[in-house]
Amino acid sequence: MYAKFHSIGAYVPSKILTNQDLEKMVDTSDEWIVKRTGIKERHIAEEHEVTSDMGAKAGAKAIQRAGLEAKDIDLVVCATVTPDYFNMPSTACIISTKLGICNVQAFDISAACSGFVYALSVAKAFVESGMKKHVLIIGAEKFSSIVDYTDRGTCILFGDGAGAAVISATDDKSEAIIDIHASADGSYADFLVTPAPGSVHPFSQKSLDEGLNFVKMKGNETFKLAVKTLTQDVKHILEKNHISSSDIPHFIPHQANYRIIKAVGDALHMKEEQVVLTVHKYGNTSAASIPMAINDIYESKRLQKGELMLLDTFGGGLTWASAIVPFAGAGLED
Ligand code: ACO
Repeated sequence: MYAKFHSIGAYVPSKILTNQDLEKMVDTSDEWIVKRTGIKERHIAEEHEVTSDMGAKAGAKAIQRAGLEAKDIDLVVCATVTPDYFNMPSTACIISTKLGICNVQAFDISAACSGFVYALSVAKAFVESGMKKHVLIIGAEKFSSIVDYTDRGTCILFGDGAGAAVISATDDKSEAIIDIHASADGSYADFLVTPAPGSVHPFSQKSLDEGLNFVKMKGNETFKLAVKTLTQDVKHILEKNHISSSDIPHFIPHQANYRIIKAVGDALHMKEEQVVLTVHKYGNTSAASIPMAINDIYESKRLQKGELMLLDTFGGGLTWASAIVPFAGAGLED
């Protein structure tokens, strides 16, 4: 039994936060943000709109595009670092109920920006082992809920949104996910951290006063390590599978910063048309970034059945992951 990437869906909140809006909030400029990150705007969820709402909307699209119904899904995995609730229940449980998926296994994955590719590896393993037939994987983030909008080092980077895919069983090897490599190194845990609440800093007035509930990032250190790790990891997975970067029509890196994407694309000798870019309009949406980017090329009819996608991601933990995946879904109908 093989696992195939059966469908894609996404949800983008309608509210837009532009660089010009941020100029009024912190000491920054549109010019600085565009030059250093490539980001022009990002989408922000409404106050009442939570991570599971966005995840459920993306998930509903992915299920419908796979030609399936809620009753066909036998596992739900949600990758997020901005869950509806920090301890329990999991966001995957809430999404399952919102989608009418009843009495199936559901759990969250915490791997920051690498979460969607981590979830993909879990779905692949469950399907290949014969334990599940149709796994709904979701990357959903309300990152605005952990961003300090007085910290110019982080607030310019992040946006909200969700993406989802159905991973299904197939006996046709030609449509199977080729390979996934996922890894982590906790010795860099302090590069990207939301200190509270947790067992280190349990919920308290003191932690709130110190702003420990907001994401903290060592931006420059993270940048350098991201370029190195992303390049090494993707070179390794291509070599291992005897695939050349020129064979890849869609290189879909994590959308954190245009300069990181450009440096990795150049190191792989990728042409501009091979590299999928959404960072200018969505910013960094963490676990939602890769599925939102896949959905973008799907909805603009650039992604055809059978075409190879090379996924490459990096995030808090530190975590990183890459995958070589043929798109096995039907094209978008007019
Ligand atoms: N506007 C204007 N100036 C700024 C801003 C801003 N928004 N932010 C920082 N600066 C200033 C700094 O204060 C500093 O000033 P100084 O020289 O007077 O001290 C100067 O700009 C340079 O700061 P750096 O941090 O060195 O700038 P850098 O070029 O590294 O860009 C950035 C910062 C955009 C954050 C970059 O480091 C980056 O993208 N890092 C990687 C982020 C990432 O990939 N995260 C991983 C995934 S996220 C996840 O897993 C959830």
